[in-house]
Amino acid sequence: MSSYDVSAVRSSFPILQHEVHGKPLVYLDNAATSQKPEAVLEVSRHYYERLNSNIHRGTHHLAQEATAAHENARELIARHLNASSAEEIIFTGGATDGINLISSTLGYSGKISPGDIIAISNLEHHSNTVPWQMLCDRSGAVLEVIPVTEQGAIDPADFDHLLEKTSGRLKVLALTHISNAFGTILPLAQMIESAHRAGALVVVDGAQAVPHLSVDVQKLDADFYVFSGHKVYAPTGIGVLYGKHSLLEELPPWRGGGEMIRKVSYDGTTFNDLPYKFEAGTPNIEGAIALAAALNFLNELGLQNVSNHENEMIRRAADALTSIRGLALYGPSDRSGSLSFNIDGIHHYDLGTLVDKMGIAVRTGHHCCQPLMNRFGITGTLRASFGCFNNEDDVDRLAEAVEKGVEMLR
Ligand SMILES: Cc1ncc(COP(=O)(O)O)c(C=O)c1O
Repeated sequence: MSSYDVSAVRSSFPILQHEVHGKPLVYLDNAATSQKPEAVLEVSRHYYERLNSNIHRGTHHLAQEATAAHENARELIARHLNASSAEEIIFTGGATDGINLISSTLGYSGKISPGDIIAISNLEHHSNTVPWQMLCDRSGAVLEVIPVTEQGAIDPADFDHLLEKTSGRLKVLALTHISNAFGTILPLAQMIESAHRAGALVVVDGAQAVPHLSVDVQKLDADFYVFSGHKVYAPTGIGVLYGKHSLLEELPPWRGGGEMIRKVSYDGTTFNDLPYKFEAGTPNIEGAIALAAALNFLNELGLQNVSNHENEMIRRAADALTSIRGLALYGPSDRSGSLSFNIDGIHHYDLGTLVDKMGIAVRTGHHCCQPLMNRFGITGTLRASFGCFNNEDDVDRLAEAVEKGVEMLR
């Protein structure tokens, strides 16, 4: 392998020194949540030991320091995504929160009318499905679903067909960047271009992309892009919504409260400028600062190095599992992050439980993608999902444990 030093990367994750069921932990559930490196833990600890204070309104020293750290984090995240300004970066509780912010405010804005079309793909996580169903229920818009091919991919021609069929009525296209269930990378550039030509807004769910890819929101031309901190080596409860400045300006506020106001009286309230208009209440200050530290950590490793390494581990895992009789792998071979599979005649839950007893953390079930599981006529899969610290030994132990588990269950 190249200059990527996976043992050094592993040594920065304290949790990897611990055992599970008396075995060294093999953590392959990064798509559910990632582990936290020392650099992030240290920043969280430092925040509470040295900076903790409420931000924006305080005149005292600590409040000013905490405000500066919080706003510096916003600047760093803007640069990381290549947003055109930090005002386009809204802190949220996570990807789900960001999608609900957009779907709700689009609903309040009156931009969605009965008969309008909102399109998603069959690969979406429930959090990029249910908020749009709720918006359709409230507005009379209609939800259309771009089908998934037998290989677990999206064919842009199917989207073009949908555009023809719905002739000018598409208002929103909401797509995942990478499928959490199958690891499929969507052909976003082409689909975003077609959606814009049809006059639609595009919302991208980047929860599984930001940990693995360098994302340039301007190059992608996404109107909105969301992700969760906890999937990218930062704590839970923090996330980001990027939105184009002009579009965020047009949308009304979502939650009301402190921070998002300019002036309040009983005669009426005026609202704050971007990004604060969408940030009611005390934010997750430590989370935002730790998220910036996590992105710094990834940038120091080099996102391209990380994804090359992860892709090599995924290919090694796919190769190691192919000798198992009855193996079905889901998703295209150029998958990113996740490797999903089933073994004929064996329930994913039973196998996942046995594998756990051997110290291997993988996920079983529908991965919050029930419509996708229905499309393939399955109730779920076993999913091994990779991060920057997984090594060849992890892959070999996974393959060994799956083989052993299959033998026990057959
Ligand atoms: C593709 C995708 N979108 C959205 C989410 C929701 O993320 P969160 O629960 O952090 O809001 C997930 C979480 O698994 C995901 O994988």
